[in-house]
Amino acid sequence: MSQRPIDPNAQPSDSLDAALRIKRLDELYGQDKVRHNLEILIEAARHRQETLDHILLYGPPGLGKTTIAHIVANEMDVNLKVTAGPAIERAGDLAAILTNLRRGDILFIDEIHRLGRAVEEILYPAMEDFALDIVIGKGPSARNIRLKLPHFTVIGATTRLALLTSPLRARFGVVLRFDFYDVPSLERIVRRACELTQTPYEPDGVRVIAQRARGTPRVALRLFRRVRDYAQVRAEGVITGDVAEAALSLLEIDALGLDSLDRTVLEAIITKFGGGPVGLDTLAASVSEESDTIMDVVEPYLLQLGFLERTPRGRVATRRAYAHLGVPYPVSESSPDQPALF
Ligand SMILES: Nc1ncnc2c1ncn2[C@@H]1O[C@H](COP(=O)(O)OP(=O)(O)O)[C@@H](O)[C@H]1O
Ligand SMILES: [Mg+2]
Repeated sequence: MSQRPIDPNAQPSDSLDAALRIKRLDELYGQDKVRHNLEILIEAARHRQETLDHILLYGPPGLGKTTIAHIVANEMDVNLKVTAGPAIERAGDLAAILTNLRRGDILFIDEIHRLGRAVEEILYPAMEDFALDIVIGKGPSARNIRLKLPHFTVIGATTRLALLTSPLRARFGVVLRFDFYDVPSLERIVRRACELTQTPYEPDGVRVIAQRARGTPRVALRLFRRVRDYAQVRAEGVITGDVAEAALSLLEIDALGLDSLDRTVLEAIITKFGGGPVGLDTLAASVSEESDTIMDVVEPYLLQLGFLERTPRGRVATRRAYAHLGVPYPVSESSPDQPALF
């Protein structure tokens, strides 16, 4: 589903993307808690001329985790080495990365919940004691030696905090959660994109994009691109409210930012499973999607809207979801809204 216009996992990588990238903390709109925490951390570390504590960032895709890692490295004026859990296959791969770090460097590990066990075991002493334990030789003559590493910082990012092993989680001095952005913050992000690309806009146009961006800057910027294309080809180049609405309805994105996959998932719960509860894998199979996509991309926003509930027995569509889709909510015998009949 990488063709989904609002897939928060899909990352464009062109000159426009580079132009829109933010480089300093004060350019980061929204996410105030994360920003304030980082400001203090950075200032304190700079003041004491120490390396930063290890930082774990978690939250749904597209909210700025990778961006923050780059910003922190930039603000601390240190090198950033970028890798990802699935990319480090063997313990030796990680050892090679670690021995090439210099004091103060930041090692950014994306999808850190996907590190292999053997790799994690190398990471524990590296993060805690800045030490690398290696075995030299084989058989009876094998011996352990411990190499000293320079003090460095790990920034880990994950969409699934629950999948992180507890010893790994315990190695992070700072754990920061990313929340969905509010509409005014997304409006600022879209306005900035309009200004940097010299795209004329009206406040209504920016608002429509922000309202349909499902709380996610990456989605806001992607919608901005599509609306800008539409404005240039089908209108006078100005992003007005009408132009934004027309462009987004062409992409089947509704007033709350739900796209066809979101609606398909909700409709499946309601029509195929009587409103739920239905297990994640069953639900995913019924709409021919990966469970991971449903869990990382579709569900967080539906939960946030209060359209979906996760219960121990599975996913349940709420009354609000029925209302949004225009499906009458079933009246059950135990419904508290129903007057008791004697
Ligand atoms: N607060 C923000 N302000 C402006 N742009 C942002 C902000 N957060 C994220 N972005 C943009 O959104 C996109 C996705 O951000 P990214 O850091 O890759 O998210 P994540 O790593 O959490 O999936 C990037 O293009 C980034 O420049
Ligand atoms: Mg990322």
